[in-house]
Amino acid sequence: MINRRDFLRLTGTGALSMLAGGPFAGGRSAWASEEQAFQPDVELSLRAAPTEAAILPGAPSQVWSFRGDLIKGPAGALQPMPASYLGPTIRVRRGQKVRIHFINDLPQESIVHWHGLHVPAEMDGHPRDVIETGQRFTYEFEVRNRAGTYWYHPHPHAKTGLQVYAGLAGMFIVDDAAEDRLDLPRGEHDLSLVIQDRLFNPDNQLVYLTHHMDRMTGFVGERILVNGRAAFRQAVAGRPYRLRLLNGSNARIYRLAWSDGRPLTVIGSDGGLLEKPLSMDTVMLGPAERVELWVDFGRWGKNQEAVLVSKFIDLAAVSALPGMGRMGPRRGMMGTGVMPNGAPHTLARFQVTSREGRGAELPERLSPREAFESPPPDDDRPVRRFEFAMNHMRGTINNRIFEMAGVAEEETVALNTSEIWEFVNRGGMPPLPHPIHVHGLQFKVLGRLGAPFGDVLDQGWKDTVLLMPGERVRLQMRFTDYPGLFLYHCHNLEHEDMGMMRNYYVRA
Ligand code: C2O
Ligand code: CU
Ligand code: CU
Repeated sequence: MINRRDFLRLTGTGALSMLAGGPFAGGRSAWASEEQAFQPDVELSLRAAPTEAAILPGAPSQVWSFRGDLIKGPAGALQPMPASYLGPTIRVRRGQKVRIHFINDLPQESIVHWHGLHVPAEMDGHPRDVIETGQRFTYEFEVRNRAGTYWYHPHPHAKTGLQVYAGLAGMFIVDDAAEDRLDLPRGEHDLSLVIQDRLFNPDNQLVYLTHHMDRMTGFVGERILVNGRAAFRQAVAGRPYRLRLLNGSNARIYRLAWSDGRPLTVIGSDGGLLEKPLSMDTVMLGPAERVELWVDFGRWGKNQEAVLVSKFIDLAAVSALPGMGRMGPRRGMMGTGVMPNGAPHTLARFQVTSREGRGAELPERLSPREAFESPPPDDDRPVRRFEFAMNHMRGTINNRIFEMAGVAEEETVALNTSEIWEFVNRGGMPPLPHPIHVHGLQFKVLGRLGAPFGDVLDQGWKDTVLLMPGERVRLQMRFTDYPGLFLYHCHNLEHEDMGMMRNYYVRA
């Protein structure tokens, strides 16, 4: 007996999937028939439009912002970021099916990407899928990632930097049963902090790309905003909290620390919880990377302030790495503002207002070892090597720049295989840091050569790795479920917009 759904699967989607390798791979016509079978658990709309936000005292700032509306699903699936230009936090559970209608009311083309999520290529927000002003793009996917802190932002080619800078970004948090079983702080004790830097003119308006070097170095602002707010302060109780930190900046790198020198308790990275908590004095956080901290504010006294800072990063010193040549970035080249990239900053102040109860202890084990198992590379597969370098002031990947649909043979992999990828920051002129991100999957960092600051967080599942000039990392990659065209690129958004981005193709 063949019912109607099976019939569609055999004739429509199924037949196409034999050609293209999966139920989601057949393009729009196949999608149309699959649509009837897709029953979302959560459905919402995200509208991107110009608006204004009160960021600094005085005049409001013109921004671009995502507005969300929940159409179906539990109320917690869409949570506004209070008093902020940032988009609402989308919060779903692993296994849920999600439908999101993106409506573009910006004066230019756009498309939304779900950073860190493992979704079909057609749902990933590739720049070739941009929609024009007034149009709508409907995403449908199942949440297959483990619990963790992901995010979303626009991805139109050559305009991502501007659109994110103008205010378009939001958190995408996934919960799952494995995490539920742990006694981690929840609800109001589970805080997201999106760290971004911005430059304002005297009328409180955002300023972007002021100097001809800004594109080459990546744009850095003078003022740090957390969750879209200047001089971020938060009242907290004297008890444990979970802090989810996202570096949502275009190009600025942070070196996180508590101002009083006590170590950070790290519990998670890009792709969710680590196996065990880690104690680190500082953590480097490149653009797009996430880190989760556990902190017991009870260890500060009542009415005391816990201050999260970013410590000085001597980016000029990394050019002295062996083999890099003597020409490094002069300090003035690391961003042209008065606060160059690597400058120290205060990020957030937490005021301990009460000595409320103790809250649960930090669990000794956060995830089972099996959660990090990844099949070893198939033995006939050589290490695939990618060189990131500045060439005539423009970022390149193996000497290439972005082509909308272009993909080289060395960028083609096979579905259901494992490989080792090696990323090398070759430096070039000038040698700059590059935070490299891969779409469509989470990888594991097998090893790193370099790490001049010694405080990188390579543990757990990752989708973005920060590479200083001369550094090299080896990653374990696994291509599952979804064939098609995915991106990998530098997440310094000015580098990305100038073409330091390429496709890789997963062949079915
Ligand atoms: Cu966060 Cu290709 O991006
Ligand atoms: Cu991404
Ligand atoms: Cu770069």
